[in-house]
Amino acid sequence: MSLSTRVLNVRQVTESLCEGLEAEDMTVQPIADVSPIKWHLAHTSWFFEQLVLRPYLPGYPIFNEAYCQLFNSYYKSLGRHWVQGDRGSLSRPSVREIMEYRRHVNKALRKLFEGFDSSSAAAPDSDNGLRHLLELGVQHEEQHQELILMDIKYILSRNPSNPIFHQAPLNESIAPSMNWTSYPEHIATIGADRDRFDFSFDNERPRHKVYVHPFSIRDSLVTNAEFLSFIEDRGYQKPEYWLSLGWDWLNVQSAKHPLYWSCVDGVWSEYTLHGLIPLNPCYPVTHISYFEASAFARWSGTRLPREEELEIYLAATPAGAKDHALHPTDPNRSEGQVWCWTQSAYAAYPGYEEYSGNLREYNGKFMCNQFVLRGGCVATPKGHARSTYRNFFMPEQRWMFSGLRLAKDSR
Ligand SMILES: [Fe+2]
Repeated sequence: MSLSTRVLNVRQVTESLCEGLEAEDMTVQPIADVSPIKWHLAHTSWFFEQLVLRPYLPGYPIFNEAYCQLFNSYYKSLGRHWVQGDRGSLSRPSVREIMEYRRHVNKALRKLFEGFDSSSAAAPDSDNGLRHLLELGVQHEEQHQELILMDIKYILSRNPSNPIFHQAPLNESIAPSMNWTSYPEHIATIGADRDRFDFSFDNERPRHKVYVHPFSIRDSLVTNAEFLSFIEDRGYQKPEYWLSLGWDWLNVQSAKHPLYWSCVDGVWSEYTLHGLIPLNPCYPVTHISYFEASAFARWSGTRLPREEELEIYLAATPAGAKDHALHPTDPNRSEGQVWCWTQSAYAAYPGYEEYSGNLREYNGKFMCNQFVLRGGCVATPKGHARSTYRNFFMPEQRWMFSGLRLAKDSR
Protein backbone atom coordinates (compact mmCIF):
# COMPACT_ATOMS: atom_id res chain seq x y z
CA MET A 1 0.00 0.00 0.00
CA SER A 2 1.36 3.43 -0.89
CA LEU A 3 2.31 5.88 1.84
CA SER A 4 -0.40 8.34 0.81
CA THR A 5 -3.07 5.62 1.04
CA ARG A 6 -1.76 4.58 4.44
CA VAL A 7 -2.05 8.17 5.69
CA LEU A 8 -5.66 8.49 4.54
CA ASN A 9 -6.49 5.03 5.91
CA VAL A 10 -5.10 5.69 9.36
CA ARG A 11 -7.16 8.89 9.55
CA GLN A 12 -10.28 6.88 8.74
CA VAL A 13 -9.51 4.14 11.27
CA THR A 14 -9.23 6.73 14.06
CA GLU A 15 -12.72 7.98 13.28
CA SER A 16 -14.18 4.51 13.03
CA LEU A 17 -12.90 3.73 16.54
CA CYS A 18 -15.15 6.52 17.83
CA GLU A 19 -18.27 5.52 15.88
CA GLY A 20 -20.16 4.16 18.90
CA LEU A 21 -19.41 7.18 21.07
CA GLU A 22 -21.62 10.16 21.83
CA ALA A 23 -20.26 13.72 21.94
CA GLU A 24 -20.59 13.66 25.74
CA ASP A 25 -18.36 10.55 25.94
CA MET A 26 -15.72 12.42 23.97
CA THR A 27 -15.57 15.54 26.11
CA VAL A 28 -14.76 14.54 29.71
CA GLN A 29 -11.31 14.19 31.30
CA PRO A 30 -11.66 12.31 34.61
CA ILE A 31 -7.89 12.40 35.40
CA ALA A 32 -4.96 14.31 33.89
CA ASP A 33 -3.54 11.20 32.18
CA VAL A 34 -6.81 10.53 30.33
CA SER A 35 -7.48 13.03 27.57
CA PRO A 36 -10.91 13.76 26.14
CA ILE A 37 -11.43 11.61 23.04
CA LYS A 38 -12.22 14.70 20.96
CA TRP A 39 -8.81 16.08 21.95
CA HIS A 40 -7.14 13.04 20.34
CA LEU A 41 -9.20 13.58 17.18
CA ALA A 42 -8.04 17.19 17.00
CA HIS A 43 -4.44 16.70 18.14
CA THR A 44 -3.69 14.06 15.48
CA SER A 45 -4.96 16.57 12.89
CA TRP A 46 -2.87 19.34 14.44
CA PHE A 47 0.18 17.06 14.03
CA PHE A 48 -0.33 16.76 10.27
CA GLU A 49 -1.23 20.45 9.98
CA GLN A 50 1.85 21.75 11.80
CA LEU A 51 4.49 19.23 10.75
CA VAL A 52 3.39 18.31 7.22
CA LEU A 53 0.93 20.76 5.67
CA ARG A 54 2.32 24.06 6.93
CA PRO A 55 5.87 23.40 5.69
CA TYR A 56 5.06 21.34 2.58
CA LEU A 57 1.76 22.52 1.08
CA PRO A 58 2.20 26.07 -0.29
CA GLY A 59 -0.73 28.31 0.62
CA TYR A 60 -2.20 25.84 3.14
CA PRO A 61 -4.81 27.78 5.16
CA ILE A 62 -4.58 27.11 8.94
CA PHE A 63 -8.05 25.93 9.96
CA ASN A 64 -8.23 27.96 13.18
CA GLU A 65 -5.30 29.82 14.77
CA ALA A 66 -6.61 29.06 18.28
CA TYR A 67 -6.22 25.32 17.62
CA CYS A 68 -2.45 25.79 17.23
CA GLN A 69 -2.29 26.25 21.00
CA LEU A 70 -5.24 24.11 22.09
CA PHE A 71 -4.12 20.95 20.30
CA ASN A 72 -0.36 21.26 20.65
CA SER A 73 0.44 18.55 23.20
CA TYR A 74 3.88 19.54 24.44
CA TYR A 75 5.97 20.90 21.53
CA LYS A 76 7.56 24.04 23.03
CA SER A 77 9.34 24.67 19.73
CA LEU A 78 5.94 25.03 18.01
CA GLY A 79 4.65 27.73 20.33
CA ARG A 80 2.41 27.84 23.38
CA HIS A 81 0.43 24.76 24.34
CA TRP A 82 -2.58 24.09 26.52
CA VAL A 83 -2.01 22.34 29.88
CA GLN A 84 -2.62 18.57 29.66
CA GLY A 85 -4.72 18.34 32.82
CA ASP A 86 -7.03 21.12 31.60
CA ARG A 87 -8.06 19.54 28.31
CA GLY A 88 -11.38 18.46 29.81
CA SER A 89 -12.32 22.03 30.74
CA LEU A 90 -12.81 22.93 27.07
CA SER A 91 -16.40 22.55 25.90
CA ARG A 92 -15.38 24.28 22.65
CA PRO A 93 -14.50 23.40 19.99
CA SER A 94 -17.29 20.86 19.83
CA VAL A 95 -16.96 17.37 18.39
CA ARG A 96 -18.77 18.64 15.27
CA GLU A 97 -16.21 21.43 14.79
CA ILE A 98 -13.33 19.02 15.37
CA MET A 99 -14.70 16.63 12.75
CA GLU A 100 -14.79 19.61 10.37
CA TYR A 101 -11.14 20.26 11.25
CA ARG A 102 -10.32 16.63 10.41
CA ARG A 103 -12.03 16.96 7.01
CA HIS A 104 -10.13 20.20 6.32
CA VAL A 105 -6.79 18.50 7.07
CA ASN A 106 -7.70 15.38 5.07
CA LYS A 107 -8.68 17.48 2.07
CA ALA A 108 -5.33 19.30 2.20
CA LEU A 109 -3.48 15.98 2.54
CA ARG A 110 -5.24 14.71 -0.59
CA LYS A 111 -4.12 17.86 -2.39
CA LEU A 112 -0.55 17.29 -1.18
CA PHE A 113 -0.71 13.73 -2.47
CA GLU A 114 -1.56 14.68 -6.06
CA GLY A 115 1.28 13.00 -7.96
CA PHE A 116 3.12 12.33 -4.68
CA ASP A 117 3.74 8.58 -4.80
CA SER A 118 5.45 8.71 -8.19
CA SER A 119 7.35 11.94 -7.53
CA SER A 120 10.81 12.53 -6.10
CA ALA A 121 9.13 13.75 -2.91
CA ALA A 122 8.35 10.10 -2.23
CA ALA A 123 12.03 9.17 -2.09
CA PRO A 124 13.58 8.35 1.32
CA ASP A 125 14.84 11.49 2.99
CA SER A 126 15.90 13.03 6.30
CA ASP A 127 13.93 13.02 9.58
CA ASN A 128 12.36 16.33 8.67
CA GLY A 129 11.78 15.42 5.04
CA LEU A 130 8.22 14.95 3.78
CA ARG A 131 8.24 11.17 3.48
CA HIS A 132 9.51 10.64 7.04
CA LEU A 133 7.08 13.20 8.45
CA LEU A 134 4.16 11.44 6.76
CA GLU A 135 5.33 8.07 8.06
CA LEU A 136 5.70 9.55 11.53
CA GLY A 137 2.21 11.03 11.16
CA VAL A 138 0.85 7.51 10.57
CA GLN A 139 2.76 6.05 13.52
CA HIS A 140 1.73 8.98 15.74
CA GLU A 141 -1.93 8.58 14.84
CA GLU A 142 -1.68 4.85 15.60
CA GLN A 143 -0.24 5.68 19.01
CA HIS A 144 -3.26 7.88 19.63
CA GLN A 145 -5.63 5.13 18.45
CA GLU A 146 -4.25 3.02 21.28
CA LEU A 147 -4.61 5.93 23.70
CA ILE A 148 -8.21 6.47 22.58
CA LEU A 149 -9.07 2.90 23.64
CA MET A 150 -7.22 3.20 26.95
CA ASP A 151 -8.78 6.57 27.67
CA ILE A 152 -12.36 5.64 26.76
CA LYS A 153 -12.01 2.59 29.01
CA TYR A 154 -11.13 4.81 31.96
CA ILE A 155 -13.86 7.32 31.07
CA LEU A 156 -16.59 4.66 30.81
CA SER A 157 -15.30 2.84 33.91
CA ARG A 158 -16.21 5.86 36.04
CA ASN A 159 -19.86 5.19 35.29
CA PRO A 160 -21.50 2.74 37.75
CA SER A 161 -23.69 1.40 34.93
CA ASN A 162 -20.54 -0.22 33.42
CA PRO A 163 -21.14 0.80 29.77
CA ILE A 164 -20.18 -1.68 27.05
CA PHE A 165 -17.89 -0.20 24.40
CA HIS A 166 -17.24 -3.33 22.33
CA GLN A 167 -20.04 -5.86 21.88
CA ALA A 168 -17.94 -8.81 20.63
CA PRO A 169 -17.78 -11.88 22.90
CA LEU A 170 -14.55 -12.57 24.76
CA ASN A 171 -12.44 -15.66 24.08
CA GLU A 172 -12.59 -18.83 26.13
CA SER A 173 -10.07 -19.39 28.88
CA ILE A 174 -6.69 -20.85 27.98
CA ALA A 175 -4.61 -22.42 30.74
CA PRO A 176 -1.25 -20.69 31.17
CA SER A 177 1.92 -22.56 30.27
CA MET A 178 4.20 -22.82 33.26
CA ASN A 179 7.31 -23.43 31.12
CA TRP A 180 10.33 -21.20 31.34
CA THR A 181 12.69 -20.49 28.45
CA SER A 182 16.34 -20.23 29.43
CA TYR A 183 19.08 -18.24 27.74
CA PRO A 184 22.83 -18.66 28.37
CA GLU A 185 25.26 -15.90 29.16
CA HIS A 186 26.04 -14.14 25.89
CA ILE A 187 26.53 -10.88 24.07
CA ALA A 188 23.27 -9.96 22.35
CA THR A 189 22.57 -7.33 19.72
CA ILE A 190 19.41 -5.37 20.39
CA GLY A 191 17.64 -2.31 19.03
CA ALA A 192 16.85 -1.18 15.51
CA ASP A 193 18.80 0.33 12.68
CA ARG A 194 17.17 2.51 10.06
CA ASP A 195 17.14 -0.29 7.51
CA ARG A 196 16.11 -3.12 9.85
CA PHE A 197 12.37 -2.42 9.75
CA ASP A 198 10.16 -0.30 7.51
CA PHE A 199 9.98 2.12 10.41
CA SER A 200 11.50 2.55 13.85
CA PHE A 201 11.44 5.44 16.31
CA ASP A 202 14.67 7.22 17.24
CA ASN A 203 14.47 5.77 20.77
CA GLU A 204 14.86 2.20 19.40
CA ARG A 205 18.15 3.06 17.73
CA PRO A 206 20.96 2.34 17.25
CA ARG A 207 21.30 -1.42 17.21
CA HIS A 208 23.99 -2.21 19.75
CA LYS A 209 25.54 -4.94 21.85
CA VAL A 210 24.60 -5.75 25.43
CA TYR A 211 26.09 -8.25 27.83
CA VAL A 212 23.43 -10.71 28.98
CA HIS A 213 23.77 -12.80 32.11
CA PRO A 214 22.08 -16.21 32.05
CA PHE A 215 18.35 -15.77 32.60
CA SER A 216 14.99 -17.50 32.21
CA ILE A 217 11.70 -16.00 31.21
CA ARG A 218 8.27 -17.50 31.76
CA ASP A 219 6.34 -18.43 28.64
CA SER A 220 3.05 -17.16 30.02
CA LEU A 221 1.94 -13.81 31.34
CA VAL A 222 0.96 -13.57 35.01
CA THR A 223 -2.72 -14.41 35.25
CA ASN A 224 -5.59 -13.03 37.29
CA ALA A 225 -5.61 -16.21 39.42
CA GLU A 226 -1.97 -15.71 40.33
CA PHE A 227 -2.50 -12.07 41.13
CA LEU A 228 -5.52 -12.95 43.26
CA SER A 229 -3.29 -15.33 45.27
CA PHE A 230 -0.99 -12.39 45.95
CA ILE A 231 -3.97 -10.34 47.17
CA GLU A 232 -5.29 -13.21 49.29
CA ASP A 233 -1.84 -13.63 50.82
CA ARG A 234 -2.26 -10.01 51.98
CA GLY A 235 0.36 -8.86 49.47
CA TYR A 236 -1.00 -5.31 49.53
CA GLN A 237 -0.63 -5.22 53.31
CA LYS A 238 3.01 -6.41 53.53
CA PRO A 239 5.62 -3.66 52.99
CA GLU A 240 8.42 -6.20 52.51
CA TYR A 241 7.28 -6.80 48.92
CA TRP A 242 7.07 -3.16 47.94
CA LEU A 243 9.54 -0.58 46.77
CA SER A 244 9.62 2.39 49.12
CA LEU A 245 7.96 4.67 46.57
CA GLY A 246 5.48 1.89 45.80
CA TRP A 247 4.46 1.52 49.45
CA ASP A 248 3.87 5.29 49.64
CA TRP A 249 1.86 5.16 46.40
CA LEU A 250 -0.23 2.23 47.66
CA ASN A 251 -1.12 4.08 50.85
CA VAL A 252 -1.95 7.39 49.17
CA GLN A 253 -4.09 5.61 46.58
CA SER A 254 -5.53 3.05 49.03
CA ALA A 255 -4.76 0.53 46.27
CA LYS A 256 -5.88 -3.00 47.09
CA HIS A 257 -6.13 -4.60 43.64
CA PRO A 258 -5.57 -3.87 39.92
CA LEU A 259 -7.29 -0.78 38.58
CA TYR A 260 -10.53 -2.20 37.16
CA TRP A 261 -11.13 -5.02 39.66
CA SER A 262 -13.97 -4.93 42.17
CA CYS A 263 -15.18 -7.35 44.83
CA VAL A 264 -18.78 -7.61 46.01
CA ASP A 265 -19.68 -10.21 48.65
CA GLY A 266 -16.46 -12.08 47.94
CA VAL A 267 -17.05 -12.29 44.18
CA TRP A 268 -14.48 -10.57 41.98
CA SER A 269 -15.32 -8.79 38.74
CA GLU A 270 -13.32 -6.82 36.21
CA TYR A 271 -14.48 -3.88 34.11
CA THR A 272 -13.47 -4.28 30.46
CA LEU A 273 -14.31 -2.58 27.17
CA HIS A 274 -16.69 -5.53 26.77
CA GLY A 275 -18.48 -4.51 29.99
CA LEU A 276 -18.25 -5.83 33.54
CA ILE A 277 -17.28 -9.52 33.57
CA PRO A 278 -16.58 -12.09 36.30
CA LEU A 279 -12.84 -12.17 36.93
CA ASN A 280 -11.49 -14.89 34.65
CA PRO A 281 -8.68 -16.76 36.45
CA CYS A 282 -6.82 -17.60 33.22
CA TYR A 283 -6.82 -14.16 31.61
CA PRO A 284 -3.61 -12.13 31.95
CA VAL A 285 -3.67 -9.60 34.77
CA THR A 286 -3.76 -6.06 33.43
CA HIS A 287 -3.88 -2.43 34.57
CA ILE A 288 -1.19 -2.76 37.21
CA SER A 289 1.41 -0.15 38.08
CA TYR A 290 5.15 -0.79 38.02
CA PHE A 291 4.93 -0.89 41.80
CA GLU A 292 2.33 -3.68 41.75
CA ALA A 293 4.26 -5.63 39.10
CA SER A 294 7.44 -5.33 41.14
CA ALA A 295 5.72 -6.36 44.40
CA PHE A 296 4.15 -9.40 42.75
CA ALA A 297 7.50 -10.49 41.31
CA ARG A 298 9.18 -10.14 44.69
CA TRP A 299 6.36 -12.08 46.40
CA SER A 300 6.70 -14.89 43.84
CA GLY A 301 10.49 -15.14 44.21
CA THR A 302 11.19 -13.85 40.71
CA ARG A 303 11.92 -10.45 39.20
CA LEU A 304 10.85 -8.17 36.39
CA PRO A 305 12.73 -8.76 33.13
CA ARG A 306 15.25 -6.27 31.80
CA GLU A 307 14.22 -4.73 28.51
CA GLU A 308 16.95 -6.53 26.55
CA GLU A 309 15.79 -9.86 27.99
CA LEU A 310 12.24 -9.25 26.82
CA GLU A 311 13.46 -8.13 23.41
CA ILE A 312 15.52 -11.30 23.01
CA TYR A 313 12.49 -13.38 24.04
CA LEU A 314 10.03 -11.53 21.78
CA ALA A 315 12.35 -11.64 18.75
CA ALA A 316 12.57 -15.44 19.10
CA THR A 317 8.88 -16.09 19.74
CA PRO A 318 6.14 -15.93 17.07
CA ALA A 319 3.62 -13.19 17.80
CA GLY A 320 0.53 -14.83 16.23
CA ALA A 321 -2.39 -13.09 14.55
CA LYS A 322 -3.91 -9.92 15.96
CA ASP A 323 -6.61 -10.59 18.52
CA HIS A 324 -9.89 -8.81 17.78
CA ALA A 325 -10.93 -8.72 21.42
CA LEU A 326 -10.22 -5.51 23.32
CA HIS A 327 -9.28 -7.37 26.46
CA PRO A 328 -6.31 -9.70 27.03
CA THR A 329 -7.49 -13.30 27.19
CA ASP A 330 -4.52 -15.50 26.19
CA PRO A 331 -1.67 -15.72 28.71
CA ASN A 332 0.42 -17.82 26.33
CA ARG A 333 0.77 -15.26 23.56
CA SER A 334 4.11 -13.51 23.36
CA GLU A 335 2.82 -10.19 22.04
CA GLY A 336 -0.31 -8.14 21.66
CA GLN A 337 -1.95 -8.86 25.03
CA VAL A 338 -0.50 -6.49 27.65
CA TRP A 339 2.43 -4.10 27.69
CA CYS A 340 4.89 -5.83 30.01
CA TRP A 341 6.73 -3.80 32.61
CA THR A 342 10.50 -4.15 32.57
CA GLN A 343 12.90 -3.07 35.31
CA SER A 344 14.77 -0.93 32.77
CA ALA A 345 14.68 2.82 33.10
CA TYR A 346 13.68 4.56 29.87
CA ALA A 347 17.02 6.00 28.80
CA ALA A 348 19.04 6.63 25.66
CA TYR A 349 20.86 3.73 24.03
CA PRO A 350 24.61 4.13 23.48
CA GLY A 351 25.04 6.22 20.34
CA TYR A 352 21.44 7.52 20.45
CA GLU A 353 20.73 10.28 17.97
CA GLU A 354 17.45 11.99 18.69
CA TYR A 355 15.32 13.46 15.94
CA SER A 356 16.27 16.98 14.95
CA GLY A 357 14.21 20.16 14.62
CA ASN A 358 10.69 20.12 16.10
CA LEU A 359 10.76 16.32 16.25
CA ARG A 360 13.49 16.49 18.87
CA GLU A 361 10.63 16.76 21.36
CA TYR A 362 8.97 13.51 20.26
CA ASN A 363 10.80 10.97 22.46
CA GLY A 364 14.13 12.03 23.94
CA LYS A 365 12.84 14.63 26.37
CA PHE A 366 10.81 12.00 28.23
CA MET A 367 13.86 9.96 29.22
CA CYS A 368 13.54 10.58 32.95
CA ASN A 369 11.59 8.82 35.72
CA GLN A 370 9.87 6.34 33.40
CA PHE A 371 10.19 2.60 32.81
CA VAL A 372 10.20 0.69 29.53
CA LEU A 373 7.33 -1.67 28.65
CA ARG A 374 7.48 -4.19 25.82
CA GLY A 375 5.27 -6.40 23.70
CA GLY A 376 2.20 -4.41 22.62
CA CYS A 377 -1.34 -4.87 23.91
CA VAL A 378 -4.85 -5.61 22.65
CA ALA A 379 -5.34 -1.91 21.88
CA THR A 380 -2.16 -1.61 19.81
CA PRO A 381 -2.98 -1.30 16.10
CA LYS A 382 -1.96 -4.25 13.95
CA GLY A 383 1.65 -3.94 12.75
CA HIS A 384 2.39 -0.94 14.97
CA ALA A 385 4.73 -2.54 17.52
CA ARG A 386 7.80 -4.74 16.97
CA SER A 387 10.30 -6.59 19.16
CA THR A 388 12.48 -3.47 19.47
CA TYR A 389 9.56 -1.11 20.30
CA ARG A 390 10.05 0.78 23.56
CA ASN A 391 6.92 2.03 25.24
CA PHE A 392 7.36 4.00 28.46
CA PHE A 393 5.25 5.03 31.41
CA MET A 394 5.70 6.36 34.91
CA PRO A 395 5.79 3.74 37.67
CA GLU A 396 2.47 4.81 39.22
CA GLN A 397 0.50 4.80 35.96
CA ARG A 398 -1.86 1.90 35.27
CA TRP A 399 -4.72 3.10 33.09
CA MET A 400 -2.91 1.62 30.06
CA PHE A 401 -3.07 -2.14 29.37
CA SER A 402 0.00 -2.92 31.50
CA GLY A 403 0.83 -6.43 32.67
CA LEU A 404 3.61 -8.69 33.74
CA ARG A 405 5.89 -11.44 32.46
CA LEU A 406 8.29 -12.90 35.02
CA ALA A 407 12.02 -13.47 34.72
CA LYS A 408 14.68 -14.95 36.95
CA ASP A 409 18.44 -15.32 37.01
CA SER A 410 19.73 -18.72 35.89
CA ARG A 411 22.71 -20.42 37.47
FE1 LIG B 1 0.69 13.09 20.21
